[in-house]
Amino acid sequence: MRMVDLIEKKRDRESHSKAEIRFIIDGYVRGEIPDYQMAAWAMAVFFRGMSLEETAELTLAMAQSGDQLDLSTLGGRFVDKHSTGGVGDKTTLLLGPMVAACGVPVAKMSGRGLGHTGGTIDKLSSVPGFRVELTQEEFLLQVKKIGLSVIAQSGNLVPADKKLYALRDVTATVNSIPLIASSVMSKKIAAGAQGIVLDVKYGSGAFMKTVEQARILAKTMVDIGKELGRQTIAVLSNMNQPLGRAVGNSLEILEVVDALQGKGPADLMEVSLELGGWMLVAGEVVPDVETGKKNLRQSLQDGAAWHKFLAFITEQGGDVQAVIERRLTVGPWDLPILAEESGYVQPFDAHKIGVLAMTLGAGRVTKESPIDLGAGVVLAKKAGEWVKAGEPILLLYSSNKEKLAEAFELAQNLTSVGSEEPQLPLLIEEIIK
Ligand code: URA
Repeated sequence: MRMVDLIEKKRDRESHSKAEIRFIIDGYVRGEIPDYQMAAWAMAVFFRGMSLEETAELTLAMAQSGDQLDLSTLGGRFVDKHSTGGVGDKTTLLLGPMVAACGVPVAKMSGRGLGHTGGTIDKLSSVPGFRVELTQEEFLLQVKKIGLSVIAQSGNLVPADKKLYALRDVTATVNSIPLIASSVMSKKIAAGAQGIVLDVKYGSGAFMKTVEQARILAKTMVDIGKELGRQTIAVLSNMNQPLGRAVGNSLEILEVVDALQGKGPADLMEVSLELGGWMLVAGEVVPDVETGKKNLRQSLQDGAAWHKFLAFITEQGGDVQAVIERRLTVGPWDLPILAEESGYVQPFDAHKIGVLAMTLGAGRVTKESPIDLGAGVVLAKKAGEWVKAGEPILLLYSSNKEKLAEAFELAQNLTSVGSEEPQLPLLIEEIIK
């Protein structure tokens, strides 16, 4: 087989056989296929697409390109969750303890953030002492002991995706449904998930700007899951508004601390209960999503989820007292954006709030750039809430005064107040399974 013939084939709208897909992925990981040929192939896929059979084989070939976790030795049914990324999306940190408290073990590998969407691993890094890197043995032992661990993705898990994603990032081929779907699903499959719950977001703060695009992506991932024998459920959720009030690493952990003690913002709780309910269904501990949600609410009321979170922080070396006493680094510089008049706060643009948090230092500009863990934005008022003239709408935090000043300028145009209460769209659009 020659790579040039396979590029030509895809360019001319033909389908690849399973053997051809294996040849491409294995050859690329081994360094036998150079970046320039892989880039040409990715561009051909971008324009010509792939059938479900091709996409499923691509997923499997990538999943098998490196280490694969075998969770079967731990017993139980493992369910993983993935979000396509949004602004203020801290659902993993809330769901891990809630779902584990309801009897479904959570062994999760998560990513760092890039661009305006934050990563779970960065958020956890804002807890003093918390170890985001464990050996595979430590990871599995912890899951066995308390039913919950969240770590940074290990070095040799899905090397094909690591290499291909980096190439796509610089060749304008990220935004291709079969390439995104296989990238996401290969990581879930290599991490040993038997059930997969996907939060596919759409809107200004999401990868997919329209619900139609998100639906196609969700359906493709659900179909790949079916094809590969993993129960997969996708929740389509709206990301035009930031989720919850906090955007930024320490700030989001503090919001999770509140939410686990029953004081979470309504939108964050709605999305988390929906996703968690489906995780319990996929984990086969409840017959339907409503029973799942009821159990999750119970885990909040009786403190089981909160105690699971504290056990999780403790096991991974985090300073649990700092978490309980809310002593995480925030700011230290802060500035409010005040309402000039009284009225209903009008919808924000989630993408712009994400960029604002980045400007304050909360996100990465490049993969290597450092993060200001105490930086970010708090929506003192969410869209639709009443604000009095002179009250804060946004609170800005940073450790860097220049960045704070720059963000303050930017934030002036991001808020508006009106006499009409805005009609906000549904948060959960559809379930695809
Ligand atoms: N997230 C992923 O993991 N992969 C993609 O290709 C896009 C988003």
